[in-house]
Amino acid sequence: MILIKNGRVVDPLNKIDKKLDIMIDNDIIKEVGNNLEAKYDKEDLRVINADGFVVAPGLVDVHVHFRDPGLTYKEDIHTGANSAAKGGFTTVVCMANTKPSIDNAEILNDLVKREQSLLINVLNTANVTKGMQGKELTDFKALKEAKAIGLTDDGIPIKDEKLLLEAFRKAKELDLPISLHEEDPALIGSNGVNQGEVSKKIGVPGAPAIAEDVLVARDCMLALEVGNRIDIQHISSKRSVEIVALAKKMGANVFAEVTPQHIALTEEAVLYKGTFAKVNPPLRTKEDKDALIKALKKGTIDMIATDHAPHSKDEKMKSIMDAPSGMIGLETALAVCITNLVKPGHLSLMQLLEKMTINPASFYNLEVGQLTEGHKADIVIFDESQSWVVDKKEFVSKAINSPFIGEKLYGRVKYTICNGKIVYSDMQEL
Ligand code: DOR
Ligand code: ZN
Repeated sequence: MILIKNGRVVDPLNKIDKKLDIMIDNDIIKEVGNNLEAKYDKEDLRVINADGFVVAPGLVDVHVHFRDPGLTYKEDIHTGANSAAKGGFTTVVCMANTKPSIDNAEILNDLVKREQSLLINVLNTANVTKGMQGKELTDFKALKEAKAIGLTDDGIPIKDEKLLLEAFRKAKELDLPISLHEEDPALIGSNGVNQGEVSKKIGVPGAPAIAEDVLVARDCMLALEVGNRIDIQHISSKRSVEIVALAKKMGANVFAEVTPQHIALTEEAVLYKGTFAKVNPPLRTKEDKDALIKALKKGTIDMIATDHAPHSKDEKMKSIMDAPSGMIGLETALAVCITNLVKPGHLSLMQLLEKMTINPASFYNLEVGQLTEGHKADIVIFDESQSWVVDKKEFVSKAINSPFIGEKLYGRVKYTICNGKIVYSDMQEL
């Protein structure tokens, strides 16, 4: 048994924010209460003193790229899972733009089998269209039976709205959520850099916000028509947020996610971080960033997701036009969000954790992201005020493509516990 003693327990689902103990028995939260040490036999008790630390549900990330199969020189399911554990995540959902992509049950079965040995819960999406070509739908039923929890062509927007409407209808029948990468390629000059001041300065065509806005509007209306559940992935523009707010008001079953990088950085980052700040959709203007933060506060944006997108050093050494888009994020997400959302007073810790635990869990109807007695013991313990400087040598991901290297952040993960086992600790005692 593990006793987590005297921590500040913050659990958004159960609306708890106070000093409590948590007792873990095997893989289950046995009890949350006061003074638990006195109640249990001391012999087989491992005590974690969490005095001064926050004890929260293990974080849930609905958007990671573990590059397995096929692109494992960037990341694999083991390094990805370890990176997640270090960041305080106990459940992650992998995107399906692997090589080959996850468009049939056979590939998915193999992946799911290999994921059973990992330290944390790694779940999978599968493709909406075969080979992510946007032409022909995959077999949703077979993919659901093979344990896909949702569908996505993330990385490649789906252009054909007739096909997408059919996908929405089929997905609704099967109760499978669809996650959407919203950028119309027809309106993009070059991807990964916002079309505006910075793209002009460095001489690239860039990707404008309107490319995102038109697809967000289209898909919100399609979802309103069909009544299925969708996720607008890594939302980045002010207008897109306004469209999502309207669609929610109209009754669409639409969730939106934002990444830590889009609420922390603007297009300017490309000037001093180069290709490490190249991402799809791009980092945008201060006005967009401020609108994203406001939308998190209001609840228009439901979830914070990392879009952990590892790439190799060689790939990121290419020119800004040729380097691939994306950045890693699992090991910095919590601290980037504490530093940029909680410390300046935009969100309370409870509100932040809601976006990183129970809301992402509810998009997929997962019974995680909570500290309820009788539930799985998935827990993160962190020091909210400890500062640290992001050091590329400390990443356990295979990749180092983070725009936060060298930045001072607040919030340090001390322990990650998944299914009752300590899967990460930065404390000396381990
Ligand atoms: O920048 C990105 N990189 N955006 C995506 O949506 C996909 C990701 C990747 O797979 O590298
Ligand atoms: Zn994407």
